[in-house]
Amino acid sequence: MTIATTFSGADLCGAVAAAVRAPSLHNSQPWRFRLRDGGIEVSIDPERLLPASDPTRWAARISCGAALFNLRLGLAFAGTPARVRIRPYPYDLDVVARLVPGPPRPATPTERDLYAAIPLRCSNRAPLRPDPVRAEARWRLVEAARAEDAWLEMVIGAPAVQAVAEISRAANRVLERDDDYRAELAGWVRTGLDRDGVPVEAGGPAGEPHDLLPQRAFGVRTRAPGRDFEPEPLVAVLGYSGDSPADQIAAGQALQRVLLTATDARLAVSMLSQPIEVPRAREQLRLALGRHGAPQMVMRIGYGQPGWPTPRRDPDDVIDG
Ligand SMILES: Cc1cc2nc3c(=O)[nH]c(=O)nc-3n(C[C@H](O)[C@H](O)[C@H](O)COP(=O)(O)O)c2cc1C
Repeated sequence: MTIATTFSGADLCGAVAAAVRAPSLHNSQPWRFRLRDGGIEVSIDPERLLPASDPTRWAARISCGAALFNLRLGLAFAGTPARVRIRPYPYDLDVVARLVPGPPRPATPTERDLYAAIPLRCSNRAPLRPDPVRAEARWRLVEAARAEDAWLEMVIGAPAVQAVAEISRAANRVLERDDDYRAELAGWVRTGLDRDGVPVEAGGPAGEPHDLLPQRAFGVRTRAPGRDFEPEPLVAVLGYSGDSPADQIAAGQALQRVLLTATDARLAVSMLSQPIEVPRAREQLRLALGRHGAPQMVMRIGYGQPGWPTPRRDPDDVIDG
């Protein structure tokens, strides 16, 4: 058997089709891909950053990390798993990762399951059913985070859930007071056939002040006033040992592994990043959890109706020649 030492254009196109299905803040899709000296490179797209919502580029790194995880899965599924170097060039920090071929081998059953979950995964902001998430599924989610060197803390018990919810609502209020943030968010809400942004249908029912968790204002779909959104959902926080740019890229990979594992377990998930975006709230969350390292994403998890998929730009639009 000949061992490939370089990736081809066909390898790139196949894997990028999987990569672009990754989640991103407001579906901004802040990534670019290219073949260079036989390796595949993932970069942050400086033209698709969100200056008001993401001034530190945390979300862009998480999103590119998630895309990187899909890219790895796509290559592994095709039989050539990649060796990955995060931030390979000190002189070009927009390059998130460089992937070169590793020894070929068949995809493992887990890689096949996670790859199959890529087109099925979407954020689901609709109310979840009251049935508790099964213990085996919770265990799988925790293990998924651990497999990527991250941690996933399940927030158990009403007082703990209330504490995380209050931190999230306070963070949301801070963000909502900022005119630039509100204008930027509104600019990513879509009612047409755009290939990015969040379609109103995917935004979920409009939030109400008494809701446990703050929804982003993507949706214009109203709901019966005064009704509870849902019984208490499972709330989980993904964290990583550090918070350097490389740690955030790694956390993005772990996030995507958790999300795909949830999809494979037939679970619905939506993300809440307000408490990560507001530094004070993030610190409060860290202290409330008492875990080592930095919280990187809050998730709401449960069983629900199918979610509404969001569109993506074509691989051709994100591959540099
Ligand atoms: C870093 C990051 C932060 C996000 N924050 C939120 C959020 O606070 N609220 C929310 O409803 N969705 C959030 N999302 C989900 C995105 O809106 C979603 O991934 C994007 O619209 C694409 O849709 P999909 O997940 O259905 O593919 C976040 C996603 C990422 C990667």
